Amino acid sequence: MSKKLLLLHGPNLNLLGTREPEVYGKHTLDDINAIAAAHVRPYHIELRHEQSNHEGALIDILHVARNWADGVVFNPGAYTHTSIALRDAISAVRLPVVEIHLSNVHAREEFRHKSLLAPVCIGQISGFGWRSYLLGLDALLGYLNLLPEPEL
Ligand code: DQA
Repeated sequence: MSKKLLLLHGPNLNLLGTREPEVYGKHTLDDINAIAAAHVRPYHIELRHEQSNHEGALIDILHVARNWADGVVFNPGAYTHTSIALRDAISAVRLPVVEIHLSNVHAREEFRHKSLLAPVCIGQISGFGWRSYLLGLDALLGYLNLLPEPEL
């Protein structure tokens, strides 16, 4: 059976394309979802995407994903730095989650340096613009053993 992955976008990411393009790039969220879908096409997996501006809604989406998804690529937006509730949800659902950011959060304001979620994720990718999503997907596909092993 083919694997199913969730691309999850947090608050304010619905405004991508117009939101501080010098920080987050010119692509819209629809563009990023389309680029991500094209990227995973060779792997015959099902990729769904969701976005919410609400902490509780993101928690509900993770709870539902527990029953269908094999892993999640998650840009939690500002909740990265504030949300114990989302951290608990990630721990609770026991799904592999890759935390990703368009901008390099470590090169920005100090309040963005700390992620409450990274310790319960399998890893974090930050700073590569829309390519962060593709790197996150590759990380998850590798974790799920869906990428070819290198020949040595
Ligand atoms: C972000 C970084 C966060 O600090 C910020 O609050 C966002 C976007 C990123 O993708 O670079 O909303 O997650």
